[in-house]
Amino acid sequence: MTTEQIQQRRILIADDDDGVRAVLRDLLAGEGYHVSEARSGTEVLTNLAAGNGYHLLLMDVRMPGLDGLEVLERLRKNNSDIGVIMITAHATSSVAIRAMQAGAFDYLLKPFEVDEVLVLVQRFFEHQELASKVKTLESQASDPRERMIGQSPAMQRIYKTIGRVAASDAPVLVTGETGTGKELVANVIHANSSRRNGPMISVNCAALPDTLLESELFGHEKGAFTSAVAQRKGRFELANNGTIFLDEVGELSLTAQKKLLRVLQEGTFERVGGTATIKVDVRVITATNRDLEEEVRKGTFREDLYYRLNVINIHMPPLRERKEDIPLLIEYFLNKYRYTPASPPTRISEEAIAKMMAYDWPGNVRQLENEIRRAVVYAQGKVITSDLLSLEPGRAVVEFDIAQAVRDRVPLEALLRDVERSMLSEALRQCDGDRSAAAERLGLTAAALDKRLKTYGLA
Ligand SMILES: Nc1ncnc2c1ncn2[C@@H]1O[C@H](COP(=O)(O)OP(=O)(O)OP(=O)(O)O)[C@@H](O)[C@H]1O
Ligand SMILES: [Mg+2]
Repeated sequence: MTTEQIQQRRILIADDDDGVRAVLRDLLAGEGYHVSEARSGTEVLTNLAAGNGYHLLLMDVRMPGLDGLEVLERLRKNNSDIGVIMITAHATSSVAIRAMQAGAFDYLLKPFEVDEVLVLVQRFFEHQELASKVKTLESQASDPRERMIGQSPAMQRIYKTIGRVAASDAPVLVTGETGTGKELVANVIHANSSRRNGPMISVNCAALPDTLLESELFGHEKGAFTSAVAQRKGRFELANNGTIFLDEVGELSLTAQKKLLRVLQEGTFERVGGTATIKVDVRVITATNRDLEEEVRKGTFREDLYYRLNVINIHMPPLRERKEDIPLLIEYFLNKYRYTPASPPTRISEEAIAKMMAYDWPGNVRQLENEIRRAVVYAQGKVITSDLLSLEPGRAVVEFDIAQAVRDRVPLEALLRDVERSMLSEALRQCDGDRSAAAERLGLTAAALDKRLKTYGLA
């Protein structure tokens, strides 16, 4: 960090004890921070109201008149976004809890070591910088669904490719492991194309049996098959003038593949059971986490279709190959999954971040997202420590008291997801990774189990 950057950082020190103020002032001013002082809670409020652009307030809890906690609560009520570190001589849990609940960044215990203060202040500014980076990234994307986080060289290359191909109508094949953001890329391409005001239709080709999938994609005429009681438009017709995203395209039957090839070549098809030729203007984006070349060799995927779809290939890198993006992603998801909608983002300990950096993330960004979501619930508004993470596959942690969970306002959905994830990994562990045995134990079909494993990054 440059001296200039430090000098722009304004800290207000509030304590009625002249000695403590002097120590803190000398220490922080000595590091180059811009420091001012206040002797009481009221002085803090007038000082801040004067709008001097302070970034951080170091404030004693015990002050005559308005005490530190009251000041903090008032600041939050007034939507002040100044960072606050509380100083207290009494490490009672109630003061600590109240301070953190009121949105303090952290607290310092008296007597404190000089190093402790510096590390905490430095950590606050690092945290703030990261948060503002995330904000900038967010504001660059207009639609909340199309936020891509990551600044690694690998992601920069992805952004460049998206920028180059978005404007054209060329088909794009997005490849990569599960949870790397393939669907997100498809959405971003659409949102940045001239078709952005047209529909964006997604179809998961793995979710439907062959017979239904063909009519889902191309529609059917009344009476085309037993359950076809009325004529129905398919997804290609619905996607006219927009984009269609075919996820798990490797699952298409050979008949459906043939029809898709014709759509790509001529923009035409017939509904199932129909004879009228329908013409559409649709951009096709496909994705797969299978090796399509291998499917081509085995004869289950048409070679000509493969080349048509693969005109532009975007390969999403696994998270373990761009670990430098992990802190940014953690910050982003902490901000997204607040403990309650009104809570400030939960904070995370350095060692928890270190643990996440060291981990390999087989389920990639989706797994990281799920991990943060559940850790936020476990941390209950406090700091996420590494013991709250469940990164080792197979570790099942479901220990909760329903009455307490309700009192703690643990969101139902989050808790259910957590139970689900824990049961899945426990079943796999008990069955030594044998999926069909695990599925049976859980009362699921093998396909349903696979889908859930994927969702939780356990596949
Ligand atoms: N770079 C990223 N920035 C922010 N969020 C991301 C990023 N990459 C993925 N995500 C999020 O991770 C989750 C999984 O992403 P997505 O569904 O696009 O993965 P996928 O590659 O399609 O996975 P699968 O192969 O299992 O279908 C989504 O919630 C998505 O928003
Ligand atoms: Mg997907």
